[in-house]
Amino acid sequence: MKIFIDTADIKEIQEANRIGILDGVTTNPSLIAKTGRDFDSVAKEILAEVKGPVSLEVISLDTGGMLKEARVLAKLGENVVVKLPMTVDGLKACKALTAEGVKTNVTLIFSPSQALLAAKAGATYVSPFVGRFDDISEDGMGLVEQIVQIYGNYGYQSEVIVASIRNPMHFVKACLMGADVSTIPFSVIQQLSKHPLTDVGIERFLKDWEKVPKK
Ligand code: G3P
Repeated sequence: MKIFIDTADIKEIQEANRIGILDGVTTNPSLIAKTGRDFDSVAKEILAEVKGPVSLEVISLDTGGMLKEARVLAKLGENVVVKLPMTVDGLKACKALTAEGVKTNVTLIFSPSQALLAAKAGATYVSPFVGRFDDISEDGMGLVEQIVQIYGNYGYQSEVIVASIRNPMHFVKACLMGADVSTIPFSVIQQLSKHPLTDVGIERFLKDWEKVPKK
């Protein structure tokens, strides 16, 4: 299971990187806007910090515009992954970029058929949004299970990034289902390392240590 961080906040990225468990980064226009900074500076800073795949999203809605943006983004670094929306235009752009050797991440996936088409278009990654699907009373992790099964049935190589993760259970289920990547907000990455019994255990060990006679 690869762990990506889902943020454009360089401090969070550096912090996760220091733990030593970070494989990559995903961003989107909302996350870039949250930084309050311009796109270029943020993207370059992230690319200088992280060696693994960094997803940067296009804004255009038409294939031509997406390709133009994607080619500029791809020049920013070898580890750039161009994030494309799951639309017919996005699929066309995905097919063309794949032929050019540019890595892609087809995003905003909410159905298994969308994931199948993205794989056929040669997507390097596909991103089903589990939290947002749960938000409308659908089964986010059920969607991931179906995509993983379909890709297995036909041997598609696209990697499944479980996105819009909101809690540790999303992550655990993604691992059990054999998804390739989880992209996780910093707050949830922190939660993954914690367990109340670990804290209680440390406290108890330290209390008992006080009873050990000192020389
Ligand atoms: O990677 C996709 C993610 O950024 C969406 O998450 O929490 O905005 O639904 P969220």
